[in-house]
Amino acid sequence: GKDGYRHFMEKELHEHPLVIGQTLQRMVDPASRRVFLPDMPFDLATVPRAVITACGSAFYAGMVGRYWLEAIARLPVDIDVASEMRYRNPPLTEGSLGLLISQSGETADTLAALRSLRQKAIHILSVLNVEHSTMARESDSVLGTVAGPEISVASTKAFTAQLTVLACLTIATARARGMLDALAEEELVAALLDLPSRAAEVFTQGAAIRRLAGVVAEARDVLYLGRGSMFPIAMEGALKLKEISYIHAEAYAAGEMKHGPISLIDRTVPIVASVPYTPLFDKTLSNLQEAKARGGRLLVFTDTKGADRVSAIAEDMVVLPHVHDFVAPILQTIPVQMLAYEVAVLKGTDVDQPRNLAKSVTVE
Ligand code: F6R
Repeated sequence: GKDGYRHFMEKELHEHPLVIGQTLQRMVDPASRRVFLPDMPFDLATVPRAVITACGSAFYAGMVGRYWLEAIARLPVDIDVASEMRYRNPPLTEGSLGLLISQSGETADTLAALRSLRQKAIHILSVLNVEHSTMARESDSVLGTVAGPEISVASTKAFTAQLTVLACLTIATARARGMLDALAEEELVAALLDLPSRAAEVFTQGAAIRRLAGVVAEARDVLYLGRGSMFPIAMEGALKLKEISYIHAEAYAAGEMKHGPISLIDRTVPIVASVPYTPLFDKTLSNLQEAKARGGRLLVFTDTKGADRVSAIAEDMVVLPHVHDFVAPILQTIPVQMLAYEVAVLKGTDVDQPRNLAKSVTVE
């Protein structure tokens, strides 16, 4: 049942801290602060390239994965949505790594992409929540997300669990490739181990998130902005809002706004920005300034370190706990999903069963 929550989605949102912790338990030794992945029939030290493919939210998790694998493990990554990857016929070096991400393990597009990669002698590593799924059977290796059953059509906890697995995979890959010494690994692992308690603190911000929801629920169009690893989180926020509240939302890399979308900005198009205090904080803030100067209403998710500077320009903000840059996209996911949820509640939509959508999309 819903355990007293209004919808399965609300219940599943509250499971973020738990599933992040459970997923870490599978891959991290807290005593040594090291990541241990199961044995896999390929060597992360020598794979020439990774090809990431998935659909929807799982694809956005993959985008964060690309950001991490390139920046931290120095592994070249190609990424596309599964329905495109399959037909692009990209040139692939034999022995590359195909990284598939899916909650259900049954998504037809992702499964078709998996099969087409397999034909090209690519190792198939899948990040899956349903362990006895078709994709699990057809993969060389599986890294499980320990999110438990996800009932709400809109994905919530499976997404942060996917990010958690990808973070561990990044650490293991970086170590294998000589990009991470023991001390640096301990620092990243400590940041991950800190997450379940920081994630639990997000729920103290419910009132602030509902305030933002009141503004968003009145809008016809909403822009979501973020940079770096926060750009896919903006995309996740925009997708979730569209999916369950039926409000049109688009995400842009904040720096790209001046190349077109800035012409949309006026008082009727709220801007939801994810701007924790990371090395991209200043750059993102100056993009937000540009939007504000054109009459944009800024609704900002930041953290305790960014709050002072954000409060000087934002119409409203939500202050989350400050965490290490590496794990900031995981933490910042929670409030953007909560925002979509609260907007849908205000709109009175069928939150758990949005129109035209099914939990697992088994047609291509
Ligand atoms: C978003 C959502 C969908 C799924 C997508 C992939 O809230 O639920 O975008 O993420 O259909 O599904 P899986 O992960 O089962 O392959």
